[in-house]
Amino acid sequence: MKILSGNSNKFLAKKISENLNLPLVKAEITRFADNEVYVEIKENVRGEDIFIIQSTSCPANDNIMELLIAIDALKRASAKRITAVIPYFGYARQDRKSLPRTPISAKLIADIITKAGADRVLTMDLHATQIQGFFDIPVDNLFAAPIFANDIKKNFKDRNPMIISPDVGGLIRARAIAKKIDAELGIVDKRRPKAGISEVMNIIGDVKGKDCIIIDDIVDSGGTLCNAGDALIKAGANSVFAYITHGILSGKAIEKVKNSSFETLVITDSIDQHENTNLTNKIKILSIADLFATAINNTTLEKSVSTLFD
Ligand code: R5P
Repeated sequence: MKILSGNSNKFLAKKISENLNLPLVKAEITRFADNEVYVEIKENVRGEDIFIIQSTSCPANDNIMELLIAIDALKRASAKRITAVIPYFGYARQDRKSLPRTPISAKLIADIITKAGADRVLTMDLHATQIQGFFDIPVDNLFAAPIFANDIKKNFKDRNPMIISPDVGGLIRARAIAKKIDAELGIVDKRRPKAGISEVMNIIGDVKGKDCIIIDDIVDSGGTLCNAGDALIKAGANSVFAYITHGILSGKAIEKVKNSSFETLVITDSIDQHENTNLTNKIKILSIADLFATAINNTTLEKSVSTLFD
């Protein structure tokens, strides 16, 4: 087995490589003068089981091209099996025709990753689990839920936690955590009048006096999160927290979180967060490196990965 890192999240790749006690493959992944991607694998990978770690986060298009070109380089260097390890799979929210004459970009990205030569995909908290079916190769979709549930159990012992899904789409994800920590479940009835704008219509469940914990897969502009947080406080919640797998945090999201009613926003390092954590102490990071290291190890040893779901 060998592991290679793209440029999107070198910190996570380094942690995974340390956990596996395996150095990263020597490679040059840079840009030509005109910004085209250049990849050179600087060691022999013939016959190897290779894992390339690359989140397709912002700049998504550049990171996707890096992933594709690195896969092509590995394939042409005769790697035996190539697993695209994509802790954050971008373009996932475009998973259906939401309006006439719109694309299903998640399917297109799945197709090009497969066409480039990936044999498997290892990812986490896909926006919609059905995206697994967009690939004609095996996809292992890990969950942050066990990591989140352990942290909640540890930190909410003396509180009155209630798990909240910020929209109907996130209900299954939130329910899984509510079940794990044996807490009540509430739902925010969110509407999106247009892309990027969200409005809270209603809160389903009695949140009075509760320490509400919002569970979601993505915080992007922060609109969904902060609107839900405000609505929960208005409805009588004692405090609000959030556990969100992928911290995209684009635009003014950090400002919003800083000025919000949230005590803490817990996110994973599926996307590199070094700059964001310097901007506010409201953000806490839980690392997924050990989870991915175990999943990579189990994959190469042909052992079960689903044992990591609990
Ligand atoms: C929506 O279905 C997702 O689960 C997230 O709630 C959404 O993508 C968050 O986006 P934003 O932070 O821009 O509201």
